[in-house]
Amino acid sequence: MLAQKRILLVIGGGIAAYKALELIRLLRGAGAAVTPVMTKAAGEFVTPLSVSALAGEKVYAHLFDLTDEAEMGHIQLSRVADLIVVAPATADLIARMAQGRADDLASTLLLATDTPVLVAPAMNVRMWTHPATQRNVAQIQADGARLIGPDDGDMACGEYGPGRLAEPPAILAAITAMLAKGPLTGKHIIVTSGPTHEPIDPVRYIANRSSGAQGTAIAAALRDLGARVSFVTGPATVPPPAGVTVIPVETAAQMADAVARALPADAAIMAAAVADWRVSNASDRKMKKDGTGTAPALQFAENPDILKTVSHGPNRPRLVVGFAAETDDVIAHAQAKLARKGCDWIVANDVSPATGIMGGAENAVTILSAKGAETWPRLPKDEVARRLAHRIADALK
Ligand code: C5P
Repeated sequence: MLAQKRILLVIGGGIAAYKALELIRLLRGAGAAVTPVMTKAAGEFVTPLSVSALAGEKVYAHLFDLTDEAEMGHIQLSRVADLIVVAPATADLIARMAQGRADDLASTLLLATDTPVLVAPAMNVRMWTHPATQRNVAQIQADGARLIGPDDGDMACGEYGPGRLAEPPAILAAITAMLAKGPLTGKHIIVTSGPTHEPIDPVRYIANRSSGAQGTAIAAALRDLGARVSFVTGPATVPPPAGVTVIPVETAAQMADAVARALPADAAIMAAAVADWRVSNASDRKMKKDGTGTAPALQFAENPDILKTVSHGPNRPRLVVGFAAETDDVIAHAQAKLARKGCDWIVANDVSPATGIMGGAENAVTILSAKGAETWPRLPKDEVARRLAHRIADALK
């Protein structure tokens, strides 16, 4: 699976470093060669001896090691791999990556490299959710790193929440996906997915029933064909796929900004169920009953139409695909939408409650384009995604 591939594994100093040993074992089992690099702090959690025994190679740890420099300079070390994996990536290591520091071997390699980088964060939940870490994570993603995890769960520190290192098999799957060569290798594709939440006040919002299942399946299918996927997702109920750049947003306005920042791209697949309206008189405090029995009157303003903006924008991707979830006259509405939005294809489906499609596992779609309409049978959402990804690959040839 990973034969002939070399992974440079940067092990950061966190309690999850022991899982790096399991990851090395899995990588070797899949046929990859592993060059391990440990930060100074990593050595407090696992020994270089265990790491090198499992990797079957020496461990690199020091920037100013003359023996290492004589054998292989640190610049060269940063370039020999097919992929650099940082696991576990601590809050400190991510911060240093975001700043472009080069004060130890690990950070220097990450700054000097032109190789794709996969980052698997692991830290205390408060450290992960801190705005500083979130800023740094957004920065390293903007600089091209891809993220896997962190997972939710019990933490070694006794707390519960996001911050656990992704499980080694999931990291292996993300590595395999990043190294997969497919018809979309070298292509960048933006996928929007999930619902948006439009706040009414700090605790209430307007949303819709989109689960994000179809958008998530499409992102995974594009990734499997080798694409670099920017996955801009509203608060979906299904977890995002591994091995894609996840850009979480809440509102339509945030989604529009995130898409604009993710451009340029070869294709944009807009599967999100974006709210058409936002509450223009949203309150910054929780609204209260005033005892008179009169309900507050919400006022609405139109949200930016992301699909239309991208279709008509200066940075228009070669292929722009919109979705039309309708409850009646599906094809007629979708046809009108194709013209109105200025996109290349519309993937239309009937989401009336009787179909069970919204939030369900299956989808029945019709693809409309300038060439006409093509109706697919009712299929699992994963299969719709797989077929769509192949159609996208053909269109981008
Ligand atoms: O107009 P309607 O919401 O039915 O169009 C659906 C298509 O337009 C979807 O592809 C959706 O992602 C996109 N859309 C958008 N921005 C909006 C509304 C819809 O990108 N504000």
